[in-house]
Amino acid sequence: MKFVVFRFDPEIDEEPRYETYDLDTPPGMRILDCLNIIREEHDPGLSFRYSCGHGICGSCGLTLNGLASLACQKLVKHYERSPEIKVEPLGFYPVIKDLVVDMEPFFQRMRAIHPENWGKISPVQVSKQLHQSQEDHALIVDAIKCIMCGACTAQCPVMLDEDPEFIGPAAVLRAKRYIFDTRMTDTEERKRAIESPHGVWSCDTRWLCTKVCPKGIQVTNNILDLKAVLKKYSLSNK
Ligand code: SF4
Ligand code: FES
Repeated sequence: MKFVVFRFDPEIDEEPRYETYDLDTPPGMRILDCLNIIREEHDPGLSFRYSCGHGICGSCGLTLNGLASLACQKLVKHYERSPEIKVEPLGFYPVIKDLVVDMEPFFQRMRAIHPENWGKISPVQVSKQLHQSQEDHALIVDAIKCIMCGACTAQCPVMLDEDPEFIGPAAVLRAKRYIFDTRMTDTEERKRAIESPHGVWSCDTRWLCTKVCPKGIQVTNNILDLKAVLKKYSLSNK
């Protein structure tokens, strides 16, 4: 398989470039393993990020043939109909080197949905178990699967073209996870946070977040559920 890999070292390069590597790879090989072969056998200077290798840590996000993906989850055979696999950094985030991006804009957005007093659980709360029924758990179980890989945000056309300050699909999903959690006590503050400018209403339902999510989360449907609740909330506050 032919790999066309984005390369850019801001300390040396004036412009990004692409390097091509021909590898003899079995169909079941992970793209992450292919990148390791490139680094070990062809180019020790190639930079990319990973940790768990099993779709858990969310650190190996990059763009494969135009779609945000996890390098440890995609196999060579997923691209057998393509003449090549184009490997690029995740979109939206600034490139640090080659396939490594600065994820701080993502984490800053994830932090923004938490009210100021978040995490300060009162003694009353910690002294008893916080029970959750199966029905209540079902409201948030999909959103809980998020591994914060940033793929949805990197692919979101609103972030890329319309509103670069949009809080992004992952942060809206996380807000939904807390707002729908019947054990939480700061729901009203959180609703106000997510309704701020560049918040949930910047989403115009393009579905690409759902398409690329490596955990199969119905990101768009979760966002629509949250919008429906917020609409009711706005009406009841008029
Ligand atoms: S919603 Fe999916 S794509 Fe977005 S950060 Fe979470 S796991 Fe990654
Ligand atoms: S290396 Fe952890 S998700 Fe890919």
